[in-house]
Amino acid sequence: MRDQAETLRMKILESQGALGRSIAVVSGKGGVGKSNFITNFAINLANRGKKVVIVDMDIGMANIHILIGQPAQYNLKDYLEGKVTFTDILYSGPYNIHYISGGSALASVVEWSNEMFEALIAGFEMLQKNFDFILFDMGAGASNWSLDLLKSIDEIIVISTSEPTSITDAYSMMKYIHLKDRDKRFYLLCNRVYTNEEGQETLIRLKNTMRKFLSKDVYILGALPEDQAVRKAVIEQVPFTISYPKANVSKSLIEIVSRFVDQQINEEYAPVPSNTFLSKLRRIFSKGRD
Ligand SMILES: Nc1ncnc2c1ncn2[C@@H]1O[C@H](COP(=O)(O)OP(=O)(O)OP(=O)(O)O)[C@@H](O)[C@H]1O
Ligand SMILES: [Mg+2]
Repeated sequence: MRDQAETLRMKILESQGALGRSIAVVSGKGGVGKSNFITNFAINLANRGKKVVIVDMDIGMANIHILIGQPAQYNLKDYLEGKVTFTDILYSGPYNIHYISGGSALASVVEWSNEMFEALIAGFEMLQKNFDFILFDMGAGASNWSLDLLKSIDEIIVISTSEPTSITDAYSMMKYIHLKDRDKRFYLLCNRVYTNEEGQETLIRLKNTMRKFLSKDVYILGALPEDQAVRKAVIEQVPFTISYPKANVSKSLIEIVSRFVDQQINEEYAPVPSNTFLSKLRRIFSKGRD
């Protein structure tokens, strides 16, 4: 009964379009630009009037707060363990974005206590009601719990460079996620390209491979150029679209955000995907407990 009531409640919220979209940024290979992309993507969504929160799941080397130059004292783990409240871990950062630091590795959610899981759901429900976008930086060090989380996130932005190893790893990552959940919506982003053609070739190749081997259609988000502004911005601890708004990388990123907000991805109109984040998370937790 309780489950039915919950499902109904979620359906009502979803039909009202009141729930924030859950989006994870992943890559096969590490160091391809996820954290820099997500920070600047978030800031420019906020510039377009969206309410955005970043959840930094980069276990052990959480670094969003370093990129925006503001430290986080408490993290998600502190909250789940009941040490602090949810508002204590929800930081209101500069540039109109909010962020949460994931903290250190946790066991798979099926091993969590009911209290921890209920705390997680309560926290994420609050995020979904108060933000338009919940962006997860999945980092390089994936733990069991971040993989559980990934299974429940509706949309996935996959970043690759145009190097063959990065492309193969991006494909393997998408295959892994797709085989666990065929409803996911994937967006492809190619970072650090030297020419437009190089970016387009990589994106089309990945898109065609997904269609050919997995019969899965994915959306092309776009490409970002190799640009010294990124490195300089990292050193200055000011995101590149803020410190170097005229740089090529900033112009491309701002254009990507516009097309994303208007849902004009891949030269075709992309409808808003269904919002199943919390119900999927609940399902993952209840598995293995029946
Ligand atoms: N478009 C770009 N042009 C030039 N350099 C870039 C670009 N994007 C990223 N970089 C460089 O790559 C480095 C790594 O970027 P970032 O930390 O965002 O990657 P990541 O995917 O989050 O890494 P990890 O997998 O370790 O979390 C940056 O510090 C920057 O020097
Ligand atoms: Mg990172």
